[in-house]
This record gives sequence, C-alpha cells and structure tokens, in this order.
Amino acid sequence: MIGFQRDGAALACDGVPLDRIASAEGTPLYVYSSATIAARYRAIDEAFAGYPHRIHYALKANSTLAIARLLRGLGSSADANSGGEIEVAILAGFTPAQIVFTGVGKTSGELAQAVALGVRSINVESEGEIARLDAIARERGVRTSVAIRVNPDVDAKTHPHISTGLRTNKFGIPASDVPDICRRAQFMDGIQIVGLHAHIGSQITDLAPLANAARALVTLARELRDKGTTIEHLDIGGGLGVSYDGEPVPGPVDYANAVLPILRESGLAIVLEPGRHIIAPAGALLTRVVDVKDAGVRPTTLEPRAFVVMDAGMTELIRPMLYDAFHRIEPVVRTGAPLVCADVVGPLCESSDTLGRDRMVPRPQVGELYAVLDAGAYGAVMSSNYNRRLFPAEVLVENGAWRVIRRRQKLQDLLALES
Ligand code: LLP
Repeated sequence: MIGFQRDGAALACDGVPLDRIASAEGTPLYVYSSATIAARYRAIDEAFAGYPHRIHYALKANSTLAIARLLRGLGSSADANSGGEIEVAILAGFTPAQIVFTGVGKTSGELAQAVALGVRSINVESEGEIARLDAIARERGVRTSVAIRVNPDVDAKTHPHISTGLRTNKFGIPASDVPDICRRAQFMDGIQIVGLHAHIGSQITDLAPLANAARALVTLARELRDKGTTIEHLDIGGGLGVSYDGEPVPGPVDYANAVLPILRESGLAIVLEPGRHIIAPAGALLTRVVDVKDAGVRPTTLEPRAFVVMDAGMTELIRPMLYDAFHRIEPVVRTGAPLVCADVVGPLCESSDTLGRDRMVPRPQVGELYAVLDAGAYGAVMSSNYNRRLFPAEVLVENGAWRVIRRRQKLQDLLALES
C-alpha cells in the first residue's frame, strides 16, 4: 500500500498507521510518503521518455533537505527560486549543472552566487536583470548561461493568486520584446542565451493554456534562430495540477500528449519544473482536535453546526486561507459517530484561519487525530511563526519505517535571533 490509504478503519502512510506516528512525534506534524514521491517523479519522467528532457524539481514546493535528496536520488535536477534554495540544492547534493535559477527579484548577491557556482541556467525576468547579470559575469571573467523567461500572455485558468503568464502579471518579458533583447545580448561578453522559459501558473488542470505557452516558446525559438540566436533548450516550467477533491484531472501522460507534439517541432531539449504534481499528494498534515464548539444551525436544513478547533491552522497550512484551497480533512481512525457539519478551524487569532468550511465529519472528540490530505506541496514551506507558533516537525516514511527529517522548532530557536 503506497501513499495515504486506509488499512481497515485506520489511515496509514505507506502502510504505517498515522496514529502511531502522531503518538510518537506529536502534532501538528507533516508526514511524507517516499514511495509516492518516487512513483510520481517516475510517472513524469516516463511520460516524457520519448523526448530529450530534464526534470528540475521546483524546490519551492517543498525543500526539506531529505525530500530534496530523495528527488536527487531519483534522478531529478532542481529549480531554485532564491539564494537559499540554491544553497539547499547544493547541500542536497545537486551539482551546479543540475540547477536552474528562477525568480522575479534576484538580488545582485544572489546573481553573483549563481554566477560563481556556474548554475545550468539563470532564468532572467527583465532586460535590467540581463544587464546586471552581464556586469557581474564580466567582472568574474565568465560568460553565464541564461534563459529568457517569456511572458506569453496566456491565461492559465487557475486561481488568480497563482497565475503568472498574463501580461498583467509581474513575471517575465513580453514575447514581442524578446528578439530585440536577444540581439542586444549578443554583444554582451558576460551573457550566453541558451534557452527560453515560460511558467504560466500553478494547479493547472486545463492543458490548453500549457499547450499555448509551449507553442509561444516554439514560435519564438524559430524567430530567434532565423535572426541568428541559437538556443539549446526550452523550459516549460511547472504548473501541472493535482486532484484535491478526488475529481479526475489530467496527469503526466495527458500533459506530455498535449505539449510534446508542439515542442517536437523545435527539435530542442526541454526542461520541466514540476513541484506540486510530485509532492502534494505525498504529504499530509496531522492535527488534533483541541475544542469542539457549537456553531448554531445550518440555515438551509436547520441541522446543528460545529466549529472544530484544531492544533494546526494557517501557520502550518495557509493554502485554504490564501487561495480558498480545498483539502480533504479526515479522521485518522474512522469512528461511527453521527455526522456533523463543521467549520474546521485553526487556533489563531484570525477569523480566516480555517482549514475547511462546511465539512461533514463524524462528530469529533477533543484529542482526536485528523489528517489534512494532499498537503505536501506549499504546506510546510509556507509555515509562519505568527502568534509565536513553532514550525511543525516533518517525518518521512520509507520502507515501512519513519524518520524525523525536520525536528519541531523550539521557542529557543526563535529567541536565539533576538536580543
Ligand atoms: N517554476 C516556476 C518558475 C514557478 O514559479 C513555480 C511555482 C514552479 C516552477 C512550480 O510550479 P508547480 O509545478 O508546483 O505548479 N503557493 C501556491 C503555489 C505557488 C506556485 C509558485 N510557482 C499554492 O500553494 O498553490
């Protein structure tokens, strides 16, 4: 049994009962399934097997060192979005040639770090950044490899907060500006344009926008070639969604079928930067009920409602609050209690601190253990210390056993930074 599945009444991760893990390690707790990570990485790799490709796992989705190492071991390369992520990638054993560096606001310090390391490609976001990068590279007497992040003005049809490919978004360079920029870059001694990059958004479940972005890259690559700039790769970013509610969504094979016929025309190798698709379903957040409060009645049916207050909230998983994201929330051990309609909320002093609204759950008991599913991506990495709450521990289940891959933060860890 791989991933989060029930063994009778009890939810388990790769066959290890979650209540055992939570009793030993406490809550809130992130639990990851290494078998799921491996299966989902391989599914993407296999879907693109017929074409030259490299998978650069997007560290931003989850960069806990052991997770990054696990992916490296599976053959992945890395997509880093900050100097910190570059350092984590190196610590996890990725070579500089396995790292692409993206980000809309790279500081000169971060650019210098990437140039000094000699990363595979720096995905540049503006003409100003190219000029800064050229100066930094020339100072070091090197020529740095650059891919231009194109803004293809494509609507990814996802939540507006995670759409990045529209002209009105802050990301990338409009396609129409790219040929002139490349022409000017030919005279820069510190710059070698090696690729084009596009990332139009995240949690994309309609493949047409991804195909349109791929087409925009291929068209632009052809135009550049005709004008004398030869590039080596097209980086099609990440964005492939997952099913949070159990409804079917396109998978890696559908994705490959949608984009490969287009990309093939270019004859160029491709880079993929998947994050969520690999890691979201591989993680769950375990949390215990702290209080159950009466919340009046449902206006439509007059059924009683409850607030179920958990020991995890927006500080551990901000996605429901920030993007109205839906995550399944289930009791780890199923009880026969009658169902109640509940708002499952966190303990913070914010009304929007909610994990799920209007959920039918067996009437919960204080102390009962719950799992918030598909929380492996943009979960732990987006935690905060608001209300002086401490980062949760994280464990990885491998071969029928678990190990702590990030210990729970202590208040002393926080106070060590203060005077
Ligand atoms: N490449 C670039 C340049 C990106 O900006 C991103 C994500 C990825 C790759 C990976 O995308 P993925 O395959 O994971 O969709 N916090 C939000 C998601 C933000 C995504 C940011 N960029 C959430 O929780 O939904």
